[in-house]
Amino acid sequence: MLSVRPATPADLPALELLIRRSVRELSVGFYDARQIESGLRYVFGADTQLIADGTYFVVCDAHGTLAAAGGWSRRRTLYGGDQAKLGPDNLLDPAHEAARIRAFFVSPDFARQGLGRRLFTHCRDAARAEGFGALELMATLPGVPLYRALGFEALAPGDATLPDGVVLPMVRMRVVIRAL
Ligand SMILES: CC(C)(COP(=O)(O)OP(=O)(O)OC[C@H]1O[C@@H](n2cnc3c(N)ncnc32)[C@H](O)[C@@H]1OP(=O)(O)O)[C@@H](O)C(=O)NCCC(=O)NCCS
Repeated sequence: MLSVRPATPADLPALELLIRRSVRELSVGFYDARQIESGLRYVFGADTQLIADGTYFVVCDAHGTLAAAGGWSRRRTLYGGDQAKLGPDNLLDPAHEAARIRAFFVSPDFARQGLGRRLFTHCRDAARAEGFGALELMATLPGVPLYRALGFEALAPGDATLPDGVVLPMVRMRVVIRAL
């Protein structure tokens, strides 16, 4: 039995382990080993602002083990963990701007069991309840098939050149969640 609950700061050590396993195992075939390790160093990680906002969620099994994590944001940052933060993360205007879908990571033990879709539904409904009419995200290449299946369309390539010179291809995507 798997359940969804808001993440708390106490989840951070387990979240970091989940993120490392998820990225290392589920990015194979999409990114090479250098891209995976540089991505983990400079991009992928927990954004503690989302935990503080109550908009980051974990999926746990009956023993409390993390099976997946993901969230949404009413703030401007499009992607990246704490290590990628540059400054203040201002609030978006739901009347004119798209909420963010952020940092989805599924354990390889639970891949392709619908947890990405389940977390998305949870996040979409919460963002909609706050008045947002669209969602945007920066998809990793492993994330693109999931987001396409959820109705997102590609807006533009969002390749990031990381501080060590490694290029991490990503795709900016968007979906309308109600008529504006
Ligand atoms: C991307 C990720 C979150 C998907 O999670 P998931 O729980 O396996 O996805 P779901 O089981 O909910 O998939 C729902 C649908 O998305 C599509 N999909 C998801 N992963 C896919 C893949 N690897 N290849 C093809 N289609 C895929 C399918 O249509 C799938 O439906 P189906 O299984 O009935 O065919 C997961 O692979 C992951 O954690 N990857 C590593 C971290 C990462 O890059 N996260 C994305 C950050 S933007």
